[in-house]
Amino acid sequence: FDAFQYRNNTLHAENVALTELANSYGTPLYVYSRKALESRWTAFDQAFGTQPHLVCYAVKTNSNLAVLNVLAKLGSGFDIVSQGELERVLKAGGDAKKVVFSGVAKKPSEIRRALEVGIRCFNIESHAELDRLQEVAESMDKVAPISVRVNPDVDAKTHPYISTGLKDNKFGVDINTAPALYAKAQSLSHISIQGIDCHIGSQLTEIAPFVDALERVLKLKSDLAAQGIEIHHLDLGGGLGIQYTDEQPPEIATYIQALLTKLNDPSIEVIIEPGRAIAGNAGVLLTEVEYLKPTDHKNFAIIDAAMNDLIRPALYQSHQHIQAVTPRTDGEDTSWDLVGPVCETGDFLGKNRTLNLKAGDFLAVMSSGAYGFTMSSNYNTRPRAAEIMVDGDQAFVIRPRETYEDLMGTETLLP
Ligand code: LLP
Repeated sequence: FDAFQYRNNTLHAENVALTELANSYGTPLYVYSRKALESRWTAFDQAFGTQPHLVCYAVKTNSNLAVLNVLAKLGSGFDIVSQGELERVLKAGGDAKKVVFSGVAKKPSEIRRALEVGIRCFNIESHAELDRLQEVAESMDKVAPISVRVNPDVDAKTHPYISTGLKDNKFGVDINTAPALYAKAQSLSHISIQGIDCHIGSQLTEIAPFVDALERVLKLKSDLAAQGIEIHHLDLGGGLGIQYTDEQPPEIATYIQALLTKLNDPSIEVIIEPGRAIAGNAGVLLTEVEYLKPTDHKNFAIIDAAMNDLIRPALYQSHQHIQAVTPRTDGEDTSWDLVGPVCETGDFLGKNRTLNLKAGDFLAVMSSGAYGFTMSSNYNTRPRAAEIMVDGDQAFVIRPRETYEDLMGTETLLP
């Protein structure tokens, strides 16, 4: 399902013209499609067939309450990395029993809150964290369900784009030393071993690394069984890529089927934590061209969205497609650098883009539903953009544009 299509030469979100939204609510403006979110989540859910499973949407990807609520209504679980994300899930009507808690630095207060509401599983990333969890759980007279996030060290030579599943990064524990951590967990009074967890990276466009990682996880599972430790679920993380430009990521069903084939065990529960693959292409960022500034060297189109609104191009040199909301039939195509108002040379959303532009035109930065708004900031004292969710013919403001009072209201002068 492609939510963003041209009708009568105007880009629409479902049945709503983006020109209308930009005119009514101003720019920069995030616009999401409910149907796109739902169809992607459902594709994951259905791909599992009769295999016991839980799709835990990675909240960091796009954590607006309306987004979480739409997914919660489908029965989604959630992967969180902070108490803030937990509070969002609860407020959005998510089920605590379907929450898994990832992250390398869980504070005692965060652990306490997660135990209090009864989350599904803590994904443990170190020995020290396991000790802390035991301590907090004991003090509350609760038993903490855990899996260990293992780092499978998937071969970087064949898959050089994977970065989080390698030995030399901060995530997880070396899969070779994991049995010792499991043995320790088993000896602790307020810890209950549930599963094995692994997340090898993001925006993967091939299946092989996922399957390699699963193979190593399955080896660990059988080693643990020999140690008398039973594993009830496998959490295979997120990471499935999307098409930004010409990438060809596998279909959701193909990816899940490859995992299930390798797994070859119809009774064990599989948890996955997709984020980008659900939300990425369910959102766009709308922006208006403020000024055209052609120079002898380069043509700059100065737009009203900036790196504070969408940091991916500046931070990762990532390429997101940018297109006119209403393509011009007059004038000519020219190459433009699309730069924002922020006082940094790195403040661009796209470089060398061939577009036919005039000041006042609206542009859509595509594939902005994931890691867009959630990574935005108030740098240069810029209010964060409004967010809209379209559902069929209707558009709902799911977060108003920030006001200057929102930005400064809690700050105080010295007495
Ligand atoms: N689970 C864990 C433990 C994660 O760390 C992540 C993402 C996910 C699941 C979801 O991964 P996904 O399915 O979205 O690939 N800001 C970067 C991406 C950072 C990903 C961090 N971890 C970007 O804009 O490309």
